[in-house]
Amino acid sequence: MAATYRAVMLTKAGGPNVLQRVELPIEQPGPGELRVRVTAAGVGSTDLIMLTGKYLYAPKIPFVPGYEIAGVVDAVGVGVTGFKVGQRVAALTVHGGYGELLLREAKHFLPIPDEISDVEAAAVILNYVTAWQMIHRVAKVRPGQTALVTGAAGGVGTALLQLLRLAGVKTYGAASAKKHDTVRKLGATPIDYRAGPIDRLMRALEQNGVDHVFDAIGGANIGPCIRAARRGGTVVGYGFMGAAGKLATLAMFINLFVGARLRGRRGAFYGITMLYRKDPKPLREDLPKIFGLVAEKKIDPLVMQTFPLLDARRAIELLATGSVAGKIVLTNA
Ligand SMILES: NC(=O)c1ccc[n+]([C@@H]2O[C@H](COP(=O)([O-])OP(=O)(O)OC[C@H]3O[C@@H](n4cnc5c(N)ncnc54)[C@H](OP(=O)(O)O)[C@@H]3O)[C@@H](O)[C@H]2O)c1
Repeated sequence: MAATYRAVMLTKAGGPNVLQRVELPIEQPGPGELRVRVTAAGVGSTDLIMLTGKYLYAPKIPFVPGYEIAGVVDAVGVGVTGFKVGQRVAALTVHGGYGELLLREAKHFLPIPDEISDVEAAAVILNYVTAWQMIHRVAKVRPGQTALVTGAAGGVGTALLQLLRLAGVKTYGAASAKKHDTVRKLGATPIDYRAGPIDRLMRALEQNGVDHVFDAIGGANIGPCIRAARRGGTVVGYGFMGAAGKLATLAMFINLFVGARLRGRRGAFYGITMLYRKDPKPLREDLPKIFGLVAEKKIDPLVMQTFPLLDARRAIELLATGSVAGKIVLTNA
């Protein structure tokens, strides 16, 4: 009988209950590939979109989700240089992370520095690269500027608040009231977005609007985000949580690209996987910088809870309640 490993498989579109534990045959790495034993995998809202079967970069169902991993090289394919068995590595996998083993081309992996743990590494790949690239490659913030972050207590939101503070930017974080302590601890002024339109709440604090807005929500939230930015400011959208259906998504893009310009703001949409597939170089440059910041304790990924890797379903059930501030990481030490 072939040796097997365990994984959590998305078996059909639905709620967290469609995630099932399965046993899969262990395969040898092909030429140019690594086989990695997964030690930690990140969980985020994008996994919730995967469950619906509508995520653009997901393979055909059934598949093993898991967007980002830390692990240890377990076997090395022919022709691979620069990696050895036992080495700690990280990757933006997009799928495949919720399994004890993962096969992927070696070019997707980066070494993890000794100073940072597997849990820390898995917690920063998606959220902190997303935040870093929006801040430094898209918005190009400058010290002394101001920024509004929506979904501020979430995984990407907390990464944005930490990295913006490090960049010398004054931050405002829109979050539900029970998460305001998290926002405050990250040096931002919390805003209860349920108390009214975000542009009105923002302008009560910054009369002319902020220099930059980073929006996790999307949909109808983009209009108020544009109005929350000052003339000449930027609005970077990256999430769809508030865009229900294709029409709402289309309207959001029109508003972001055309509406923003008509109102004298620069609108942009950021997508980590879209960019990584086009050119992996920026992520390969930025992730080591983020690992460096964690090692120097300049940033601290807020890992609120860990679950065993094969309990991915419980982790996603918890995330779906909307009660999590920060990040959930699965571990398989
Ligand atoms: N484009 C990219 O490259 C990229 C990369 C990573 C993630 N994403 C996307 O970014 C979004 C955020 O991801 P995440 O992992 O940070 O999520 P998360 O950790 O689940 O946090 C999202 C936060 O947004 C708030 N929220 C949820 N639904 C909302 C709504 N309808 N209106 C207002 N606030 C809402 C929640 O807090 P409150 O209690 O404060 O409402 C929550 O803290 C997701 O859509 C994800 O798919 C995109």
